[in-house]
Amino acid sequence: MQSKSNSRLHVAIIMDGNGRWATQRGLPRVAGHRAGVAAVRRVVEHAPPLGIRVLTLYAFSSDNWARPASEVQSIFWIIRAFLRLECERLRQQGARLEVIGRRDRIPAPLLREIERTESATAAGRSLHLRIAIDYSAQMSIAAAVATAAAQPPREQLISPDHMRAFIAHALTADSGNVDLLIRTGGEQRLSDFLLWETAYAELVFTHRMWPDFDESDLASALGDFNHRERRFGAIPAAPVQSESSNTDSAQ
Ligand code: IPE
Ligand code: IPE
Ligand code: MG
Repeated sequence: MQSKSNSRLHVAIIMDGNGRWATQRGLPRVAGHRAGVAAVRRVVEHAPPLGIRVLTLYAFSSDNWARPASEVQSIFWIIRAFLRLECERLRQQGARLEVIGRRDRIPAPLLREIERTESATAAGRSLHLRIAIDYSAQMSIAAAVATAAAQPPREQLISPDHMRAFIAHALTADSGNVDLLIRTGGEQRLSDFLLWETAYAELVFTHRMWPDFDESDLASALGDFNHRERRFGAIPAAPVQSESSNTDSAQ
């Protein structure tokens, strides 16, 4: 098994199951979204000691616009409150917040809070916390392609090799590829999350609903990850032969 130092991991989480968590308790779905905030706080706090340097959390997908307007509004309100309340703590923890996804459809008060938190935490070095809002992986790949296509010399970029390098740079230069992707809530799909960056990610699906997810679940997912053999298309490294086994085979 390949040994891992677990010191600079990029972990991505599809925080799913808020609605079911609430429904199971006879509560409105929004109560699940509210309860999910505590789980975000827990993973942000416990990520750095576990060797996580980049943490990408899926908070609102571009397809989530299909939900009732009242639920969408509540989710944005909850994210805004989270940023307002947590900004100082994030700064003290050395976390750098970055929101990924489209910004042109985000309501102005939330956008202001995002920009404020991003600039207040810009110097953070212990955790790069990325929150995906109005995010679509397909759209982010398409946007990178559009940027590439607008740049001369066009002939170079038309080559698949150059286009691939351009997209890889646009999507991963700052945060790297995903090492481990966790999805809570029991579903086993990616729902348009980080499709490029997860090319060689290890996947962990758990039935735990997001509001119940805690530091022991995070540690257990990392434990799973540590037992995986990552090959990246190659074959496992040959075991190192000891001197005695060399001598044995020579005899
Ligand atoms: C994830 O929980 C949060 C968002 C998508 C915003 P859901 O709201 O999808 O919860 P379930 O899947 O309906 O239980
Ligand atoms: C994915 O969950 C998006 C987030 C967790 C923010 P969904 O609940 O929207 O995904 P589907 O619809 O079950 O695929
Ligand atoms: Mg869901």
